[in-house]
Amino acid sequence: MIGVPMSSNPRRARLAALGYYVPERAVTNADLESIVDTTDEWILSRTGIRERRVVAADQATSDLAIGAAINILTSAGLSADEIDVLIVPTCTPDQLFPSVAAVTADAIGAHDAAAFDIQAACSGFIYGLAQAVALVESGLARNVLVVGAEVFSRVINPEDRSTYVLFGDAAAGALVVGVDDAGPSTFIGFELGADGSKGDQLQIPVGGTRHPASQPFDPADAYLQMNGREVFRFATRVIEDSVIRLLDRLGMTIDDVDLLVPHQANQRIIDHAVVRLGIDPARVFGNLDRYGNTSAASIPLALAEARDQGVLTPGMRVMMVGFGAGLTWAACLVRFDPT
Ligand code: COA
Repeated sequence: MIGVPMSSNPRRARLAALGYYVPERAVTNADLESIVDTTDEWILSRTGIRERRVVAADQATSDLAIGAAINILTSAGLSADEIDVLIVPTCTPDQLFPSVAAVTADAIGAHDAAAFDIQAACSGFIYGLAQAVALVESGLARNVLVVGAEVFSRVINPEDRSTYVLFGDAAAGALVVGVDDAGPSTFIGFELGADGSKGDQLQIPVGGTRHPASQPFDPADAYLQMNGREVFRFATRVIEDSVIRLLDRLGMTIDDVDLLVPHQANQRIIDHAVVRLGIDPARVFGNLDRYGNTSAASIPLALAEARDQGVLTPGMRVMMVGFGAGLTWAACLVRFDPT
C-alpha cells in the first residue's frame, strides 16, 4: 500500500533479499548450430556465452517473475501481503497491457501492492531500484519488490544469427525494505541516463502504436533488431563513464568498490571495461556463460548467484552497472546488508 510522505523522514532503504527463477531448459551453443549458421567456437570467442535458458511453450514473462518473486519473499521471510509496491522492469512483457507487475502481484497474493512495469531494457533493474529507494526513503512505502523479468527467446529472429545467439530468459530481483534509521542509506548513489537519439540502434519496430501489429508488416520488424557494433561502442563507453562519474560524485575511487557486477551482455564488453576501470578481475562477478544476456534480469541474477557462491558477503560495497535499449545506462553503488 502506498502511504503518505513523511515530513521528517528517518527511514532508510536497505537491499534486504535477492532471488531468481530461470526456466529449466538449457540451450547450448551446439544446439543453436542447427537453427542458425553459427558455431560454438564463434559464439564463445565473440561473446563468452556457452548456453542460455529458454522458456517452455506455455510460459511467458510473468511466469518467470512469479517464480522469482516467491523465491525472494521466501528468502526474506516476508509474506506477499506485506509488499507495498511491486515493480517489474521488463521490455518483453506478456502483452502491452496489463502489466507483468499487476499479473504477478495477483498471482503471488500481493493484493495490497501498487504494481507497475518500467521499460529501461537492460538498465531496468537499476532504474527500478532507484524508484524503490525513492519510495521507501520518502516514506511512501516500506517494502518494495523489484523483479526484472524477460523472455527474449520470443523476440529474437531465427534468421538473424548476429542477435539470435546472444539472449536468454530469466527473472531475478531484490527486496528493498525501509528501516527506521537516521543513518546514511546503504544505497550510496545512483547514476542513470538515456540517449534517445540512438533508439534505433536497438529496437523492435512493430507492436506498439507507431507500427501496430494490426497493420501489415515485414515479419523481420516484429523481432529485435540491433546494430551490434554501435551498441558495443556505446556499452564500453557508458560502463566506464557512469561508474567513474558516480565514484567522482561520491569522492571515491574504484578501490572503494569491493565487487563490480556489470550487465551480462558480452564478455568482451566486460573485459574492456575492467581494463579501463583498472579494477582487479577477481573483484568482478559474472555468469554470462550459463545464461547469456537476460536483460533486466541479468544484474540481479548475477548478484543472487554471487551471494549463493559466497562471493557477495554482507558489508561489501557493490557497484552494479548496466546499459541497453533506449539507449539507456545505469549504475548504482550499494552496501550489501541483508540483515
Ligand atoms: N555466428 C557466426 N558468425 C556470425 C554470427 C554468428 N552468430 N553473427 C555474426 N557473424 C558474422 C558476421 O556475419 C560477420 O561476417 P562477415 O565478416 O562475413 O560479414 C562477422 O561474424 C563479424 O561480424 P561483426 O558484427 O563484426 O561481429 P562482432 O565481433 O562485432 O560481434 C556482436 C557481433 C553482436 C557479438 C557484437 O557486436 C556485440 O556483442 N555487440 C553488442 C551487443 C550487445 O551486447 N547487445 C545487448 C545490449 S544490452
